[in-house]
Amino acid sequence: MSSFVPLGSGHAPGKIILFGEHAVVYGKPAIAAPLPQLLAHAMVYRDQHCLIEATDLNRTIDVAAADQDDPFACSVRLVCSELGEPLPPWRIVVHSDIPIASGLGSGAAIAAAIIRAMLHAFGATLSLTRLSELVYEVEKLHHGTPSGIDNMVVVYGQPLWFVRGRPPEPFNVGAPLHLLIADSGVSSPTRVTVATVRKGWQADRTAYEIDFDSIGELVHSARREIEAGNILALGRLMDENQKALTKLDVSSSELEGLITAARSSGALGAKLSGGGRGGNMIALVEHPDQASVANALAKAGAKAVLATTLHAED
Ligand code: PMV
Repeated sequence: MSSFVPLGSGHAPGKIILFGEHAVVYGKPAIAAPLPQLLAHAMVYRDQHCLIEATDLNRTIDVAAADQDDPFACSVRLVCSELGEPLPPWRIVVHSDIPIASGLGSGAAIAAAIIRAMLHAFGATLSLTRLSELVYEVEKLHHGTPSGIDNMVVVYGQPLWFVRGRPPEPFNVGAPLHLLIADSGVSSPTRVTVATVRKGWQADRTAYEIDFDSIGELVHSARREIEAGNILALGRLMDENQKALTKLDVSSSELEGLITAARSSGALGAKLSGGGRGGNMIALVEHPDQASVANALAKAGAKAVLATTLHAED
């Protein structure tokens, strides 16, 4: 019987990638931001065994008996081995608002929420760097060769400049960036799109590396424009980034439909965000919640449209 008084709780946000997905796996920079409107939550209660109750999936996992590659159980085991503790007699109840396999960092946020809730219940703390490293271990189960951008952003909870293998850099946002995020409704595991790009790269490294280089340059320009608060130029760079992602074959007709609808209804630029082939796209707009674009996205088949603003102080 679990008691109703929580021993600990933790949460972590979803994330969007503004620029540089896929090329970031090959060492190019990327820019990402948290999405605090969508959160993963975990609560720890006393129980008889170590259990995870994934309420959205209708699953209860017995951690001692779970497969080595179960991401929920892995999150719990990582905390125990980090702290030198045996599996505790706890029920960890997990719930997430972040849609799965849709480019919004759901796997990383769930792992971060579980780890934070357990640390809270143990009365322990870890640095953001270490916490992010633990979440990265779980990310590897989700998609093999992750760049590490998702774990960084969901753990740090602020817009970041990220290069694989380096500490993340926060940067200045010169003018508020109003974004609409639309869900194509197509679930697309990142593992598959990352593998598609890898296959292409293995078949023609020279051509792919030219494309990755040009994405890298574009991400450098995007950082300058974000810092300068030049949103018109930023919109154009989003369009260029989308062109490069289409060339890498990670776009889809559903995403293209949403991107076209956003641009033709007044967005300054639009692109897919995350692994692609499905999941979410983002559109840069002049005004918060810009109705013309939000309505056009809904009409073009978006399953959900969310508004977010990146502020200078974020
Ligand atoms: O689909 P998401 O949200 O997990 O984003 C993945 C971003 C990629 O660059 C495609 C992969 C990675 O590990 O960086």
